[in-house]
Amino acid sequence: MLSKVVTVICCLTYVAAEDPPSHLKPFGWGDSTPMEEVQGFLPVKQFFEEYVKPNKPVVMRGANKVWPGFLNWQTDEYFASVAPEEPFIVSMDIKRGTPETPTDFVDFKEFLQKYNTSARRMVEHTPPFLWKDVLVPGSLGCDKMWYGSSYSTSVVHKDAADNINCLVYGIKNYTILSPEYDPHVFLDRPDGLYSTMEVDKVDAHKYPGLDKVKFQHTELHGGDCVFIPYKWIHQVRSYDRNIAVNIWWNHWRNNELDLSNCPTETEEKVINSAKFHGWGDFESRDEGVFEHTHDLLSMAHVIKPVTYPRWVALFTSTTFDVSNLMRS
Ligand SMILES: *[C@@H]1O[C@H](CO)[C@@H](O)[C@H](O)[C@H]1NC(C)=O
Ligand SMILES: *[C@@H]1O[C@H](CO)[C@@H](O)[C@H](O)[C@H]1NC(C)=O
Repeated sequence: MLSKVVTVICCLTYVAAEDPPSHLKPFGWGDSTPMEEVQGFLPVKQFFEEYVKPNKPVVMRGANKVWPGFLNWQTDEYFASVAPEEPFIVSMDIKRGTPETPTDFVDFKEFLQKYNTSARRMVEHTPPFLWKDVLVPGSLGCDKMWYGSSYSTSVVHKDAADNINCLVYGIKNYTILSPEYDPHVFLDRPDGLYSTMEVDKVDAHKYPGLDKVKFQHTELHGGDCVFIPYKWIHQVRSYDRNIAVNIWWNHWRNNELDLSNCPTETEEKVINSAKFHGWGDFESRDEGVFEHTHDLLSMAHVIKPVTYPRWVALFTSTTFDVSNLMRS
């Protein structure tokens, strides 16, 4: 009898001590296929019908080489020459770590002097003096600029919007995951839709579900853009001098767009002449608020699984009682 007990304890210990092959490997290690690719920006109608509406990611090779500022942005001297005389304050985030670290604020010219040796990068709305350099494909929304040097990593996260990231200089490696794998990825900070996992050394015991997912990946070079649909989990590694512009837009507007009159050629506008609704737009829409609440409660396992359309139907009904949906 005693020897049986000893055997069982021995074997349990043995199993627990064996690490899965992915243990302490970078996020994205394992089953991964290259993302779909096209050349340049697609005509707006085709882009929305084939990628945006079906929530399908796509790499657009060489798409931003047509930007008016593409060549100028290859050097720091250009940025220094167009920066205003008076201070222009930009925010600097740390290049590696979690978003909890407080942001620093510096003058843009000072940033240019110190970013090469800094542990921080600039994450800022594209400054107005650079708007003439950036083309917005079609009728898209909000923009932000990332500017940094050497290696940086992002946390594993999702954005509350559809997103195009255009790289002007450097290399970025993207690892993305379809929302169908959400149950296998533990975003332990659902408030910010991100995970505190150590992206270069993932603890496979803490995140065992990652063995069951199919990653997609791509390596972007200066000139390439990538479309990351709403809700796709992604993680980004940036190398060398790295300049990128993000364009986010509210996915709720996708269904309202009348694509029937879109030009068949790609139509692009510099930021100056594009109309932006700003971040307020994301929060001002009822759909956005409903969806955010739904995601928060379901990711925190507070409510029973419920489809989003059903959630909206319940929420807008006068007899809605959320306690019926709560997990006991
Ligand atoms: C920063 O590094 C880039 C090359 O990576 C170089 O072109 C630039 O002049 C450097 N800037 C400063 C202020 O040293
Ligand atoms: C980007 O990731 C691929 C594998 O997905 C790898 O082969 C490549 O070396 C990475 N690029 C850099 C610059 O590390």
